[in-house]
Amino acid sequence: MNTHKKGRNRMGERIIAIEGGHKLNGTVRISGAKNATVALIPAAVLADGPVDLYGVPEISDVAALAVLLKELNCEVSIKGEHVRIDPTNMLDLPLVSEAVNKLRASYYFMGVLLGKYKKVQIRMPGGCYLGPRPIDLHLKGFEALGAKITYEDDTYTLEAEELVGANIYLDFASVGATINIMFAAVKAKGKTVIENAAKEPEIIDVANLLTKMGARIRGVGTDTITIEGVEELHGTFHEVIPDRIEAGTFLVIAAAAGEKVVVQNVIPQHLDALISKLKEMGIKMEIVADSIVVYGATEPLKPVNIKTQVYPGFATDLQQPLTTLLTQADGLSSVTETIYVERFKHCEQLNKMGAAITVGDSASLIAGPTPLHGARVMATDLRCGAALVVAALIAEGVTEITNVYHIDRGYDNIDHKLITLGAHIMRYEIEE
Ligand code: EPU
Repeated sequence: MNTHKKGRNRMGERIIAIEGGHKLNGTVRISGAKNATVALIPAAVLADGPVDLYGVPEISDVAALAVLLKELNCEVSIKGEHVRIDPTNMLDLPLVSEAVNKLRASYYFMGVLLGKYKKVQIRMPGGCYLGPRPIDLHLKGFEALGAKITYEDDTYTLEAEELVGANIYLDFASVGATINIMFAAVKAKGKTVIENAAKEPEIIDVANLLTKMGARIRGVGTDTITIEGVEELHGTFHEVIPDRIEAGTFLVIAAAAGEKVVVQNVIPQHLDALISKLKEMGIKMEIVADSIVVYGATEPLKPVNIKTQVYPGFATDLQQPLTTLLTQADGLSSVTETIYVERFKHCEQLNKMGAAITVGDSASLIAGPTPLHGARVMATDLRCGAALVVAALIAEGVTEITNVYHIDRGYDNIDHKLITLGAHIMRYEIEE
C-alpha cells in the first residue's frame, strides 16, 4: 500500500488510511456497548463502595470519563476491559474542566451527583454535533424531583433541599433523559414514575447495574419505569452488554466488503431492524447463538427505504454506515431521520468519493450503484467516521480519513479488528 506519507511536523494530524478492494474474511469480536458504558461509569459513583465493570470497550470516551472521576477524587483503575471505580473517598466538587466538553455523556454526572449530594455544578456537555441537542427533558425531570436550576457562564448549577419522587412524562422518549432521571431518582424520597421512557437496551443495562447496587427499579424496557427511592447503594460488579451499534457497523462492513465474516458477541434481537433491512437488500446471513455469519453480496443489491425511530425501530446511529452500502444498491434508496434531523454530514463526504446522494429536509436520497474512489475525507462525527470506513473498504485506491478522534471515541481497536479480517489499513500523520 502506498501510504502517501507526508512526514511529521508540529501541525501533523493523525489519520486513518485504507486501501480499498481487499475482500474480508474471518471473525470479529464485538466489544462492550459504548452508550451503556458511558452511563454505567457515572452510575458507579452512586455506590458507597467499589464497582467493577467488565467488558468495558477500550475507547477514548472511557478515558475522558476516568478524568472526570479522578477530578471528583474517585479511584479508577483501567486494566484492559476491566474498570474498577471506587467512590469511597469521593468529594463533592464542581465539574468545570475542559474534560466535560470531550463527550456528551458527561451530562450523566448531573443525575448522579444530584442524586448523591443534592447539588451539582457542571459545564455544558460536549459530544458529536448532530444538529441541536437540547437537554431540556433532563432538566425538567430534575426540577420535578425538586431541583432548582441556574445556568451561567456555560455552567449549570442544580440544587435541591431534598429530592422527592414525582410523576414525569417525557415529551420524547429520550435515552439520556430517561437514564439521567433514573440516576436522580434512585436515592430520592418515595416513588418516581417515568412515563414515555426510552426502551433502548443500554437503559436496561444501566438499570441492571443500579439494581445490583441496591436500587428498586421496575418496568425498564417498557415505556413506564417506576423507581422506589432507597437510602444507600453499595458496590457490586457488572458485565457490559455487547455494542449493538459496533455490531451493526460490522454487519454492514461484512455485507459491503466481506466474503464470509462472523460477527461474534452480539445480541441478535438488538439488531432486528438492521437485519431486516439487510435481508431486504439481498444480504444473506445466519444467526448462530450470539454470532451472526454474513455473506458478502454476490448479486446486485436491492434499494431500500429507511426511517430512523426509537428502539426497537431502526437506530439513527446505524443509518450513517448503512448509507454507504445503499450507494451500492441498484436504484434509489432513502433515509428519513426522525431523531436527529441534521444527521447527514456523512453524505457530503461520501459524495467526494463518488456517491450520488442528495440531502433534503430530514432525509437523503441515495442513487446507486455508484463505484467509490479513494479521497481525503473527514469524519465529521463518530458514525460519519464509520460510514467513511465502510466506503474506504470498497473504494478503488486509498482513502484518507481525517478527524479520527471521533472514530476512536466509540470504536474499540477498529484498525486491529479490520486488519484481522484482511483489510489494508494504517495510521500516519499528514501535514494540515
Ligand atoms: N431531545 C430533546 N431534549 C432532551 C433530550 C433529547 O429534545 O432533553 C431530543 C434530541 O435532540 C434528539 C432526540 O431527543 O432529537 C433523541 O435524543 P436522546 O436524548 O434519545 O439521545 P442522547 O441520549 O443524547 C443517545 C446516544 C446517541 C444516540 C441517541 C439516540 C449516548 C451517549 N448517546 O443520545 O448515540 O444517537 O441516544 O439513540 O447514549 C452515537 O453513539 O453516535 C450517538 C450519538
